Amino acid sequence: MAGRIRLWSGYVLFFYVVTHLLNHALGLISLRVLEAGRIWFVFIWHNPIGQVALYGALLAHFCLALWSLYRRRTLQLSRWEWGQWILGASIVPLGTIHVIGTRLAYELYNVESGYPWVLGSLLASDWTVVARQFSLPLVVWLHACIGLHFAWRLRPWYRPWLPVLYAFALLVPVAGIAGAGIALRDVAELAQRPGFLDELFARARAPTAAQIATLYAIANALEFTALGLLVALILAHPVRTLWQRRAGVVHLSYGERRTASHATGLTVLEMSRIAGIPHASVCGGRGRCSTCRVRMGGEDRAKLPPASTEEQKVLSRVGAPANVRLACQLRPPPGHYRVTPLLPPSTGPVEAYRRQPQAHGGEHYVAILFADIRGFTSISEGKLPYDVVFLLNRYFRATGQAIEAAGGRVDKFIGDGVMAIFGLTSEPRTACRQALDA
Ligand code: HEM
Ligand code: HEM
Ligand code: FES
Repeated sequence: MAGRIRLWSGYVLFFYVVTHLLNHALGLISLRVLEAGRIWFVFIWHNPIGQVALYGALLAHFCLALWSLYRRRTLQLSRWEWGQWILGASIVPLGTIHVIGTRLAYELYNVESGYPWVLGSLLASDWTVVARQFSLPLVVWLHACIGLHFAWRLRPWYRPWLPVLYAFALLVPVAGIAGAGIALRDVAELAQRPGFLDELFARARAPTAAQIATLYAIANALEFTALGLLVALILAHPVRTLWQRRAGVVHLSYGERRTASHATGLTVLEMSRIAGIPHASVCGGRGRCSTCRVRMGGEDRAKLPPASTEEQKVLSRVGAPANVRLACQLRPPPGHYRVTPLLPPSTGPVEAYRRQPQAHGGEHYVAILFADIRGFTSISEGKLPYDVVFLLNRYFRATGQAIEAAGGRVDKFIGDGVMAIFGLTSEPRTACRQALDA
């Protein structure tokens, strides 16, 4: 559920950024068109629904990002996960003053927080503020694109649409940043005229020096709170591990004398990663791809908690039997378990949606029928090879038809013998009856 809300809040924020950057792109035409285009931006976002959606999504996304950090017991992340985390965390120091200086400045001091105010205040600041403002769209865009790529690459429609999405991912930020840059240059040219900036600030009802100091203080307080939360979560990590060690230890055995033991609370995937056991995890442990699925056995397997609705949905999608679980979602209680990863570590996104019910393995009662031709050796001794093949082919056709008609499945032919399985889709009692019928 948390993963889903984080994704949907990411969609809302992404839509906001797209509309914002498209608005900036109008700066490529003229300052007048840039400010006129803001009408659409204001229409979408400056109403109670837009504001609740935007700031609700921002708050939810931030809290759920922290929650996902708290839930992770190991910081052994893949390169793209590190990238997404670092970019996501940099959005806070890069973007807080921008949001406070526009939205909150309007709420507190009735500042007309449109392009004249933002561009004018950028001109009046030093280059670090400008660099910060212009790196914000890049960082946000990269962060969102990594997230969307890894969320969407599992979907069957993603590959055919990739060229269009690439074009979109390139054009929107380039046009947005170029538009904002050209608008800033245009305002800088106009500012050569004496008194232009004073006039601009007066029309935008710019905040006083004391009010600006208050806005900076609020932004700093928010940034420090975010940093404090991040540090607290990282520090909570060893404390929680100590606490959980008292609750008991989980022992996993992977066969071939590979084992992993850890205090309870970790997912099977996290334990595999800590023990250096390679494991497929296309979606990075978000419970979406199913490639981390494992067959669970061992003496304590009855203690395993049942799969959540979300996990069950993903498992049903690939037709997994009851003893198969998602390694990234399963947190076993203390005990001894046997883990068999079902897909090779090199598995790619294509396998994520493939239904392979037989490939999972599993325990199943079946009836097996073996039959061969009585006295086949003496029959074949006096015959030409061609005649023997003819005889065998007729025999295989007859036995195959009889087995299929009775509800069984031919497994293999061995010389003159046939091996058939009954009961793949029926009860053991019926399976035996079917084998006798055949
Ligand atoms: C992708 C990075 C950016 C993000 C996430 C972002 C975010 C925001 C947010 C949350 C607001 C407050 C909106 C509101 O009033 O509710 C805002 C306002 C604004 N931003 Fe950005 N911004 C970004 C980049 C930029 C850049 C590069 C510029 C141009 C120099 C810019 C110009 C403005 C302007 C003019 C406003 C006031 C808009 C209005 O109230 O209608 N933003 N931005
Ligand atoms: C306008 C800003 C933002 C946009 C458009 C955005 C977009 C996204 C998207 C689309 C995802 C993928 C969602 C998923 O796979 O569940 C994501 C994930 C993530 N976002 Fe953001 N995000 C923004 C701001 C932030 C901020 C401020 C943070 C602060 C820490 C952040 C941290 C994260 C993290 C850590 C993840 C990955 C979580 C995980 O690995 O489980 N994001 N973001
Ligand atoms: S890693 Fe994708 S579902 Fe577990």
